[in-house]
Amino acid sequence: MSEPSAPLATQDARGGFGSRLGFILAASGSAVGLGNLWKFPYAAYANGGGGGNEQGAGSFVLIYLLAVLLVGLPIMLAEILIGRRTRRNPVGAFKALSPGTPWKLVGALGVFTGFLLLSYYNVVAGWTVEYAVKSVGGEFSARTSEVGDSDLRDRLWSDFRATPDSLAQLPAPPAPTSALLTPAAAWAQFAAAHPAAYAELEAELRAELWQAFILDPDFAALSATLRKEILPGKLFNEFLASPLRQVGWALFFMCLSVGVVIAGVARGIERWTKILMPLLFILLIVLLVRMLTLEGAGPALAFLFVPRAGQLCSASLLAALGQAFFSLSLGMGAIITYGSYLTRRTNIAAAACAVTLMDTMIAIIAAIIIFAAIFSYGLVMQDGGAGNLFTAIPVIFMKIPGGTYLCVVFYVLIMFAALTSTISLLETVVSYFIDERGWSRRKATTAVGAAVFAVGLPSALSFSVLADVQFFGRSWFEMADYLCSNWFLPLGGLLVALFVGWRMTAKELREELPPAQLPRLPFVLWRALLSYVAPAAVLVVMVGILVGAVQA
Ligand code: TRP
Repeated sequence: MSEPSAPLATQDARGGFGSRLGFILAASGSAVGLGNLWKFPYAAYANGGGGGNEQGAGSFVLIYLLAVLLVGLPIMLAEILIGRRTRRNPVGAFKALSPGTPWKLVGALGVFTGFLLLSYYNVVAGWTVEYAVKSVGGEFSARTSEVGDSDLRDRLWSDFRATPDSLAQLPAPPAPTSALLTPAAAWAQFAAAHPAAYAELEAELRAELWQAFILDPDFAALSATLRKEILPGKLFNEFLASPLRQVGWALFFMCLSVGVVIAGVARGIERWTKILMPLLFILLIVLLVRMLTLEGAGPALAFLFVPRAGQLCSASLLAALGQAFFSLSLGMGAIITYGSYLTRRTNIAAAACAVTLMDTMIAIIAAIIIFAAIFSYGLVMQDGGAGNLFTAIPVIFMKIPGGTYLCVVFYVLIMFAALTSTISLLETVVSYFIDERGWSRRKATTAVGAAVFAVGLPSALSFSVLADVQFFGRSWFEMADYLCSNWFLPLGGLLVALFVGWRMTAKELREELPPAQLPRLPFVLWRALLSYVAPAAVLVVMVGILVGAVQA
């Protein structure tokens, strides 16, 4: 499927991809990242009926797939088209297509978003290196003795609170009204209504649980298992609280991305992704096959793919749509930039489909892996699952024979996925300084890398020294993510859809997409999706967020 690897488009100074496969790999590398492996399974969990296992995430996954198909895919094709037609960075692209109009501000918004997004994304990318190192060192099995009795007591108590039977311990009045609540929520309600009675009851029950536990004939085995399950959470908190390691790994990761981007598009990005992407895919398939042999696979598939009425609220609808933008790398010009390195001969409709399919498959595979593990081992995500890539995954692997090695594989894989994403973010910003400011690639990459790292410092410190510095109730890290994911990306995507849907003529579009590549019916459908469906959906997201903010 690849064209000859001759440097078809590399004649000009800004470089280009040697083949269509090179582009597909690079663009999939951009799309596949922490958004698929960390954010998607977590979002599916959080939207599976208030974070409870009972409800299932089928409706969320269904809406996500619809958002990818009806909003993501059309905008993906629109961004590739803009990039390939103009062969510019996002700002230059809009200047070329619509000279003298404010449309170039869409590109500017994109470059700014890329800058801000990379600043905190790079911090999380740094975590993957810490975890690759941790798993190579075998920390998850070696340090279980650090889990103390008080941790075990807390764990027993939280397990107890999460069992339906525990409701029977609550004094009569609140219990019947709690039939629809999860046990934990019922307890929280009781605690709020009767603080003194609650404290007394809790102390009593905790003591009983602990007595029963230490008298259990299997005490030794049980506590060993619990220590294994508790340890990763402790290690994660300890890591988050270390400013030195947070900043150190962020610096390390930024240097890695800068190195690849300096090497240039064809020689750097294409060569790396040609090796990394297929490797990533193979490693994921291996893990998938392994997890599908566990008994939790069936319930996991049911949880993810059986939609049920009553699972969806407007918040999960918004979450699904925003996730589609984030995961496909849309709305900030990353795909415009990669598209600009494509040759005229490439069928961009086929390329857009390939990238979208690849990204979606990997998100789904990652979710199946994680949920098969959760169901097989009866893990309960107490905190909504936000840290599950770093706290639950090690538990999972420590329970699999040979898991110590699989754990290394897994974190190295995620590190690669994060790297191909940070590369695309950095390249987008860098290409702006090369094209519009005339900087050399080396100067632009080093300067942007240093600046992004500096802006990311507060994000890296948001879990330790700056934890108490809040902006409207969010840490710097959370605020940056909130602004990028909820506002800037959907806004950028909306404007790209409007631009290609309304400002570009059918004749212009047909020059990039001849009927041989995109027949009449799909072409008309694509324009309708861009002009009406995608903008309407994004507006619903934004109005929904606004209404939510007003209500909150
Ligand atoms: N899509 C990547 C992920 O899923 C993140 C990413 C890379 C991104 N480049 C982007 C998101 C551009 C939005 C825009 O992890």
